[in-house]
Amino acid sequence: MPDIAAIVAEIAGEMRNAEDRGTVASYIPPLASVPIDKFGIAVVLADGAVHVAGDADEAFSIQSISKVFALTLALGAVGDQLWSRVGREPSGSAFNSIVQLETEHGIPRNPFINAGAIVVCDVLLGRLQPREAIGQMLRFVRELAGDDEAIRLDETVARAEQDTGFRNIALANYMRAFGNIHGDVRMVLGTYFHFCALAMSCRQLAMAGRYLMDGGRVDGHRIVTASRARRIAALMMSCGHYDNSGDFAFRIGLPGKSGVGGGILAVAPGIASIAVWSPGLNEAGNSHLGQRALERLVQRTGWSVFEPREG
Ligand code: DON
Repeated sequence: MPDIAAIVAEIAGEMRNAEDRGTVASYIPPLASVPIDKFGIAVVLADGAVHVAGDADEAFSIQSISKVFALTLALGAVGDQLWSRVGREPSGSAFNSIVQLETEHGIPRNPFINAGAIVVCDVLLGRLQPREAIGQMLRFVRELAGDDEAIRLDETVARAEQDTGFRNIALANYMRAFGNIHGDVRMVLGTYFHFCALAMSCRQLAMAGRYLMDGGRVDGHRIVTASRARRIAALMMSCGHYDNSGDFAFRIGLPGKSGVGGGILAVAPGIASIAVWSPGLNEAGNSHLGQRALERLVQRTGWSVFEPREG
């Protein structure tokens, strides 16, 4: 095993001094005011060792990374029936795009674009009230992260999403017209916006991703089956970065999911769960330095899933 503590410290040092940091998401005020010079990284290894550097303990808005946890809960609730309402193909278009929905009859390409995540929320509300679904999500991420009561929902972010979420409102209503949203559109969106407003640190996020690193288990407890963990990771690889997913696989070669808050959760199956955060984004809405940091990490460790393994 390479010296992860040294590699993590070195990456944080390099990113601290980087000049080109991308652009902070500006569409909601609470995201726009996050300082661009933030950078955090946390790596949790399969043996439980945790290595962090930079602003790894500062909470940020995980935004679309919550789509991974929401998908996990929805699969737990309805299993493979979910796939009659949402696809499993990369979209090749922006995270909030509406274009494919018309020709594809209101069935979103995958659960990681906004339309797909909104359907996932509707599925959860098939059995729960919004308040219960939001509570279930909060309990789930706290449990995954090691029962960390510090994980919370940022109501300011949730409200700002609601106030400016015209595209998401359009997406939800459009899918409702196709019959692929069954519940009350406002309740579905309220749930979606609250999921996006989860605030977590890199350390908490990397801890929460352990089930995807370890065949569906955390500390020996089964969270999902091994095959489900594998499939969620496959979707992260093919769809986790919107129209940037191919480039992410090419450069980094790990299943990953980004959010417009500048976080990325990535997993090296059997080896590590990794979270990085830098609020400046590239044109596709993915963390510019977060991707660069992950690229460095896999270069230094050989953790890409495409790297030949012994045995
Ligand atoms: O739906 C939205 O606009 C956001 N709350 C979430 C988007 C997001 O994180 C996309 N990620 N890169």
